[in-house]
Amino acid sequence: MFLYKTHVFLIISLSSITVRAQDDEIFSNLIDGGLTPMQNFKADLYEVDRKEPTEEPEKVEIKLFYECLCPDCRIFDTMSLKPTVAKLAPYLKLHLYPYGNAQTTEISDGVYKFKCQHGPKECYGNKLHACAIDYLSNITATVFFNSCLMDSARKNNGSDDQAADECGRILGVHPGQIKFCAKHDRGMYLLKHFGDESKKVGFKYVPYILINGVENDGSKFMKDVCAAFKHPPAACAQAQ
Ligand SMILES: *[C@@H]1O[C@H](CO)[C@@H](O)[C@H](O)[C@H]1NC(C)=O
Ligand SMILES: *[C@@H]1O[C@H](CO)[C@@H](O)[C@H](O)[C@H]1NC(C)=O
Repeated sequence: MFLYKTHVFLIISLSSITVRAQDDEIFSNLIDGGLTPMQNFKADLYEVDRKEPTEEPEKVEIKLFYECLCPDCRIFDTMSLKPTVAKLAPYLKLHLYPYGNAQTTEISDGVYKFKCQHGPKECYGNKLHACAIDYLSNITATVFFNSCLMDSARKNNGSDDQAADECGRILGVHPGQIKFCAKHDRGMYLLKHFGDESKKVGFKYVPYILINGVENDGSKFMKDVCAAFKHPPAACAQAQ
């Protein structure tokens, strides 16, 4: 969003400079007087360039299919995904799918029931994760919130209301709407949606990680993400 605005700003400034130059009656006088207008305009442009980058940075796409109580998912989220996102957020296109190996059944028209690998507690937790994606509508903030829900510091394996309250306090997020969503229809529809997206991919285990569409085992995640850039960002220099 910010970069898009910057881009528009530059185009507007460029066109106004061009229009001004063409319309200006003293344009030729300036040249006659030995002052080359282009030099001034170029200086202006460099000024703009220095202050605000005009191009979207190269981004690597990450898709994570997971379920909130699977122990490997919890380890990956908190030990690999979160620190990588903390360092590389502006250069990532992230998608989270909190559904994993669950099953969806339509029990009546538009009413869905879920069966989760680690029981009903996991279905509710996955809804909390799905509702956080929806409510925060900021995928970076969501990674921090959801990995906080899964952190080993949480009681009862986390991803429950108590974890949402704790993480809300830690991260300055109001957990009320997220918990409400998870308990009502919106949470159900969101989980159904993430289930549909997960079934399309048809993975056999979780966490199932894709980096630019290529399956990754997550064991050296940051390094593999960095290797996917044509021009790795500076933060990649320390990646092991
Ligand atoms: C998204 O969340 C991150 C982490 O909290 C924050 O740094 C960033 O400014 C947020 N982005 C927007 C557009 O609000
Ligand atoms: C936490 O997860 C472990 C591993 O899946 C499980 O054995 C244990 O029963 C869970 N504890 C609670 C309180 O849910």
